Amino acid sequence: MRDLVRENSLRESDLILPLFVSEKLTQPQPVATMPGVWQQTLDGLRREAEAAWKAGVRSVLLFGIPKEKDEQASQAYADDGIVQQAVRALKKDLPDLVVVTDVCLCEYMSHGHCGIVRHEGGHALILNDESVELLAAAALSHARAGADIVAPSDMMDGRVGAIREALDGAGCQGTVIMSYAAKFCSAFYGPFRDAAESAPAFGDRRTYQMDSANGAEALREVELDVAEGADIVLVKPGLPYLDIVWRVKERFGLPTAVYNVSGEYSMVKAAAANRWVDERSVVMETMLAFKRAGADLVITYWARQVLGWMRDGA
Ligand code: PBG
Repeated sequence: MRDLVRENSLRESDLILPLFVSEKLTQPQPVATMPGVWQQTLDGLRREAEAAWKAGVRSVLLFGIPKEKDEQASQAYADDGIVQQAVRALKKDLPDLVVVTDVCLCEYMSHGHCGIVRHEGGHALILNDESVELLAAAALSHARAGADIVAPSDMMDGRVGAIREALDGAGCQGTVIMSYAAKFCSAFYGPFRDAAESAPAFGDRRTYQMDSANGAEALREVELDVAEGADIVLVKPGLPYLDIVWRVKERFGLPTAVYNVSGEYSMVKAAAANRWVDERSVVMETMLAFKRAGADLVITYWARQVLGWMRDGA
């Protein structure tokens, strides 16, 4: 009865599970700051994806940790890079699994920034246009490996257009772009930088990620990405930015995704471990909040558990 009068509900296919694959490991390794999240070997990733698929997960978002990092992020667009290998393996094992790849340079740069850095007069500058070229090459290499969706998360200007052009030019018109259109510079990414080993070695990401004080600017950022050809727009982090999710969905009406990020996850995990909150109730309430705010898709480290809880009637 309650279901008949509920305005919003979560569907299984709304959920996207982030997974980490490392080229450095011989054994899966738990991420200390994110209980339940692992850095996987390629084989471990295949097993984790298989288990997730059996649990009802229909799409995953891949992050790679390369063995070698340099100042050109070479492994981000190498044909035999760890993510490219992972995409091929997953599409072979589970052809119907929707594979989304994070397109960024930070995990592949020796300094951990999302773009090429030039040091000038005591300052570190991020070179936007040169970085965009590398991002387009990375996205294309993911698409060629079989990725269904590429998700640029770097926030350089013009990257969505460059990626669309590179994909179309190579016959990958069917590859979908999910752009991290409104990505705020946030302390909620803290635990992720352990998981992806991508903390910047100097400075911060304030010159290319958005100021959390700004809402209208987020809409302008989204507008640019939509004009450049984004198919799905993403707001990140999630819970502290539900107003942005709402405004983006209302204004553009595009498929809208929200990223329930690492800090949001780890805070609840820590509180639940202390029995200060009930994990299942808090998480299911959070998922519904995303839907109420207008999100179509939710990227969450809880995807598997949420599916289990949905099945036994949360
Ligand atoms: C950048 C990227 C980040 C996240 C996803 N992609 C981190 C950052 O900007 O530092 C954060 C995700 C999370 O916190 O769960 N490649």
